[in-house]
Amino acid sequence: MSDSVTALYNQSEYPSMSHPSMHPAVIAASALLAGFRAPCPSTARILEIGCSTGHHILPMAVAYPHATFTAIDVALPAIHQARADAKELGLTNITFHHADLLEWLPDDGPYDYILAHGFLSWVNDALKEKLLSFCHTHLASGGVACISYNTLPGWALRLPIAEMAKTLRKDDKQESNIDIYQLLDSATQGATSPYAVHLRSIILDAQAKGQQQLSFDDMGPINDPCYFSQFIQWMRHAGLSYIGESDQSLEDPNHLPWGALSIIPQWEGDPLLQQQLADLLTGRTFRNSIITGKHQQQEPVRLQELLELAIEVRGLLPTTEQQELELFHQRLRDLQPRCVTLKEAIDHYQINAATLIPHIIFLARNGTIRLRQGAIDFPEHIPSHPVLTHLARIQMQRGAPLVDAYHNPCQLSDEFQQVLQASIVEATPVGENAGIWEILRRRGLLGFQLR
Ligand SMILES: C[S@@+](CC[C@H](N)C(=O)[O-])C[C@H]1O[C@@H](n2cnc3c(N)ncnc32)[C@H](O)[C@@H]1O
Repeated sequence: MSDSVTALYNQSEYPSMSHPSMHPAVIAASALLAGFRAPCPSTARILEIGCSTGHHILPMAVAYPHATFTAIDVALPAIHQARADAKELGLTNITFHHADLLEWLPDDGPYDYILAHGFLSWVNDALKEKLLSFCHTHLASGGVACISYNTLPGWALRLPIAEMAKTLRKDDKQESNIDIYQLLDSATQGATSPYAVHLRSIILDAQAKGQQQLSFDDMGPINDPCYFSQFIQWMRHAGLSYIGESDQSLEDPNHLPWGALSIIPQWEGDPLLQQQLADLLTGRTFRNSIITGKHQQQEPVRLQELLELAIEVRGLLPTTEQQELELFHQRLRDLQPRCVTLKEAIDHYQINAATLIPHIIFLARNGTIRLRQGAIDFPEHIPSHPVLTHLARIQMQRGAPLVDAYHNPCQLSDEFQQVLQASIVEATPVGENAGIWEILRRRGLLGFQLR
């Protein structure tokens, strides 16, 4: 198994991506919204399966020095790179194993968090089964796993497009996957039928993922999406329970057509069926599902618990005529770039918390904010000779996206790249690049402190 899987990936190109919704701080907040209490991330035992070069887990090990991290991947070159980066960062709280999940016996479990991004839909059936039975055996009591997968029917037309792209590519291996998608896009020009419009929108959507993600997702060696209901079946079979989705914004009912909003409540007694119906109506293609051992108790979330969650502002907070909401929005705007708890944001103006909570959940559901466990402090000023954090410098040297304090990947423009490359060689005065350094400060790329 190990050899064949390793051979499937191009040796020089392992996935290097961070996935903000697969961060324990976000998983814990999403689990709480669903009425489950996950362990505190800053002291947790965290395992990542299929960690590739460690791009996702290394920033967590830097940010949480008191947590313990374990990561495995079957691809040896990727593990070599991950270990080299951990060593350069001086990390002692993370261990990378070169191992095949089918055979691996951990010696440091059980785990509070098991993360498997880009794994379930990208491996064969034996490994799918193993992943879920592994979670059942190695999750600590009260621990949670977060598993991502591609979903049907959202992938129904994407799969044949990817298959065709692979077939067309065989004749000319010089072309990149993006080139092939561009070719397919050109082939749809001039067609106006609803089918052609739909086809083109999917081709464009795939292209927008960029070369690397396209290669590991649509064009990956294995890409085997499943229905949400299938996932639930597999999970129950393994003795696990479903908690909810870690991606708070994809739970937004506004994604649904108004017709659906009047019909879906009829199945209130069967929330899983409601989710499957919503997947059909929205064409959803991806899930980050949070699961747990069977005996985790669900209890309604209390106001005090919600107030301890911190807020990442991701979009523009709208102006509103409702005075209390506008006061809250203004407070969040004024606090930027600080990431404070709801309690801290609200206490300042003595805003009534109970009336604000539904609005806060609405903002999380539509992607304007993301709730997380743990506030973040950013440096108050740009130093006279700023430099990127050690981790960001390593990512930059590797040509990988930088990971900000919220675990978002940052694609830098050429102008940013030039300034940063120069500062890596020698710390230079801020000078005329103050605007660039200010953006980096606000993203925590000049350092940040978790509270
Ligand atoms: C699609 S990549 C996803 C990488 C990363 N988690 C991400 O989402 O960006 C799948 C990863 O799983 C690893 N993998 C596949 N089969 C495995 C196995 N049997 N045991 C451990 N790792 C495996 C691959 O080497 C690869 O790094």
